[in-house]
Amino acid sequence: MEDLDQLRDELLTAIAAADGLDALEAIRVAALGRKGRVTELMKGLGQLAADQRRAAGQGLNAVKTAVAVAIEARQSGLASAALDAALAADRIDITLPVRPQAQGRIHPISQTFDEIVAIFGEMGFSVAEGPDIEDDFHNFTALNIPPEHPARQMHDTFYLPENAAGDRMVLRTHTSPVQIRTMQSNPPPLRIIAPGRTYRCDSDMTHTPMFHQVEGLIIDKTTHMGHLKGCLIEFCRAYFEVPDVPVRFRPSYFPFTEPSAEVDIGCSRAGGELKIGTGGDWLEILGCGMVHPKVLLACGIDPNEYQGFAFGMGIERIAMLKYGIPDLRTFFDADMRWLRHYGFVPLEVPTLLRGLTP
Ligand code: DAH
Repeated sequence: MEDLDQLRDELLTAIAAADGLDALEAIRVAALGRKGRVTELMKGLGQLAADQRRAAGQGLNAVKTAVAVAIEARQSGLASAALDAALAADRIDITLPVRPQAQGRIHPISQTFDEIVAIFGEMGFSVAEGPDIEDDFHNFTALNIPPEHPARQMHDTFYLPENAAGDRMVLRTHTSPVQIRTMQSNPPPLRIIAPGRTYRCDSDMTHTPMFHQVEGLIIDKTTHMGHLKGCLIEFCRAYFEVPDVPVRFRPSYFPFTEPSAEVDIGCSRAGGELKIGTGGDWLEILGCGMVHPKVLLACGIDPNEYQGFAFGMGIERIAMLKYGIPDLRTFFDADMRWLRHYGFVPLEVPTLLRGLTP
């Protein structure tokens, strides 16, 4: 019979050196398989004399157990090493790459809309909308501008071709028809602003055929001219980010408000440079007034019970004033260099808490 210690050591060394599960299986078959070395020795036990057989049997069993235990340990070691290697090879880097700065820019008109919505939103106004293509009633008649009223000429209206009923739709000349639509479809109290596109057949240094306005409307039982003044003074200071900017209410005329006013803000033009703030000069920025009883009546609201104020302003104009943009027409040139210069970084959403402008 072979030297069992030597056999065991030889097998244990081979097991420790096995570099994969296949190699280990080959060692197992060669030692413990049906024709394996240990198995063959077991088979030979029968030929030994009885007194030797017992000791040899115990020795062989010990070898067999040691080898089986070593193979099992090596097997789980190799399996977990293989798993570790597979996991390492499979690993996904879930960290995001650093993003390059966004190339796009927010147009100053959009930025100004967002700033206006942020300010009036804080005062409890919500945003309302209406169509760009309006009928005569909403754009004029319901706003106390009947046919033949001189204010219709002032508006340089774009008319669409007559329809079968002989009516001509218009491109809305102001955002004021949204007042009418809002009052027709919602019961008071109301508190809305309506930013949007407007159109007039006019084109020169200071006019473009399409431009933007924002309309404001409050209807309830108690709002008066004092509220109108407080609200718009607060707006001017917040929007221009000049806390003590002088604000002046100048009597004016609009068919849909009575009394009506225009709002001027203080500025200086010293050295040819326009600066918002104190300085003795004035700049007109918006029209406003108490909603005319006839407008309330046209919307089915009782003027003996309800009242309120309205205002309207041009977006391009207040954007030019705040951001020092000299030429109105450049807003619509779609010039990337202009947009890179005057545009705003995306995601810098204006809020009153963090500041309107980045
Ligand atoms: N709709 C007027 C315009 O386009 C602006 C305006 C003035 C709107 C006074 C109003 C207002 O709501 O009360 O010129």
